[in-house]
Amino acid sequence: MVRPKYFLPSEFNISASYKKALEEDYQTFFIEPEQHIKNRYGIDVSSFYGPLKIKNPFGKASGQLSTNAMQVKADIEGGLGFTVLKTVIAEGADQKSEMEAWKIKAPKMVIEKITSQSGYDGYTVTWKGRGWEKSLAEYLDFMDESLALDSSYPIIPSCKYHLPKPGEEYRKEEYTYTTQKILDIWKKHRKSYLVLEKDFSATLAGTEQGSEKECVLAWLKEVPEMIKGSVDEPVYLGVKLMNTLLTDEFQRELVKTLLAKDSTWLADYAVCFNRLFDPNKEFEGQVGVAYGGYDLSDRNLWALEALLPDKPGRLISATGNICSGKMMLEYALRGALNGQLHTFFQLPQSEYAPIEGSRIKKALHELLFNPQKGLVAGLIYIREKLQRPDDPFTFLEVTSLDPSLLSEL
Ligand SMILES: Cc1cc2nc3c(=O)[nH]c(=O)nc-3n(C[C@H](O)[C@H](O)[C@H](O)COP(=O)(O)O)c2cc1C
Repeated sequence: MVRPKYFLPSEFNISASYKKALEEDYQTFFIEPEQHIKNRYGIDVSSFYGPLKIKNPFGKASGQLSTNAMQVKADIEGGLGFTVLKTVIAEGADQKSEMEAWKIKAPKMVIEKITSQSGYDGYTVTWKGRGWEKSLAEYLDFMDESLALDSSYPIIPSCKYHLPKPGEEYRKEEYTYTTQKILDIWKKHRKSYLVLEKDFSATLAGTEQGSEKECVLAWLKEVPEMIKGSVDEPVYLGVKLMNTLLTDEFQRELVKTLLAKDSTWLADYAVCFNRLFDPNKEFEGQVGVAYGGYDLSDRNLWALEALLPDKPGRLISATGNICSGKMMLEYALRGALNGQLHTFFQLPQSEYAPIEGSRIKKALHELLFNPQKGLVAGLIYIREKLQRPDDPFTFLEVTSLDPSLLSEL
């Protein structure tokens, strides 16, 4: 079991006037919460997803909640910063996929309480599916429809390509064919470079054998080159890194090798890190399923600490048990510019802020305005710790702050 250093308290203790203001705001619906936060608290919560500007750091992670355009529309209307679409499985021109086994139809998801090894209660979603279960052609229609909804809202496609076993060749044709098709749809709607996520999922977590380590490292190094070389135009590439079943130290080794300032890794940003894998847990007749909760955030935060006090040499998008503004800030103190959430959008509604509105709107309001553990309370807390209680302040400043300063002050 690994234990991260938490740099923030479990509840933020802030000056009485700001506390009172937040208690009011927690109960109030805002059409543009970011503008309100700027006006009332002097805080800018905007950030970036890769090269794309986002109005707040909270987005939807790739998965079952981004498989149709209606869901994406609800994200836009609910005020999220961005949406990552479900992961499609790459195909060649013959419509065949080497990763066919990842196209599983498994609609049933169960949200369960889970206590971490460190004793914290959280939630996890259990299911036995994997990637987009339908064809690439159907995914392209979905992507087309989603991107057409709003020309400025960041919507990022996600793909899983062929990963050869040691000694096998990459099926290059799947890389070229699929990336070009995704790029064509992107260019119909967007002027910027294609921004694309490559998913290394929990189900690729590997075993304890030594050879797995070399295999994982080879994939992580070679796949960005394969994707970037597969089309004639630049691709802004994010790699969603897996939590391997290898040792905790190996997870840190990945961070140091790929994300240190002097790393030559070709990916432009990293999503840190996909869910943990329990090889023994059974669900609906399948043994071995992914899980989350505080075990996931504990391992992710701990692994990212490997670079401190340096910040990563790549942009970081965080994922894993982001269930409060406080958790977002813990990742931000390790360099993350945004957070991708899945489980939080599936919780009982009693976990969200007491306002009227859609599930997404309420969830986002909770993340921003909760007076004890929300993002605004956390940013006020950090600003007061830095002894700048009324200065203009930004979320982005936190991403470049040395977190040890907070414990020293
Ligand atoms: C039901 C379910 C389906 C998921 N499917 C994908 C997927 O297709 N591609 C992907 O990159 N991540 C997938 N994920 C991982 C999430 O994107 C996210 O990174 C992970 O669940 C950690 O965030 P959370 O703790 O907020 O759930 C899935 C997660 C869940 C729970």
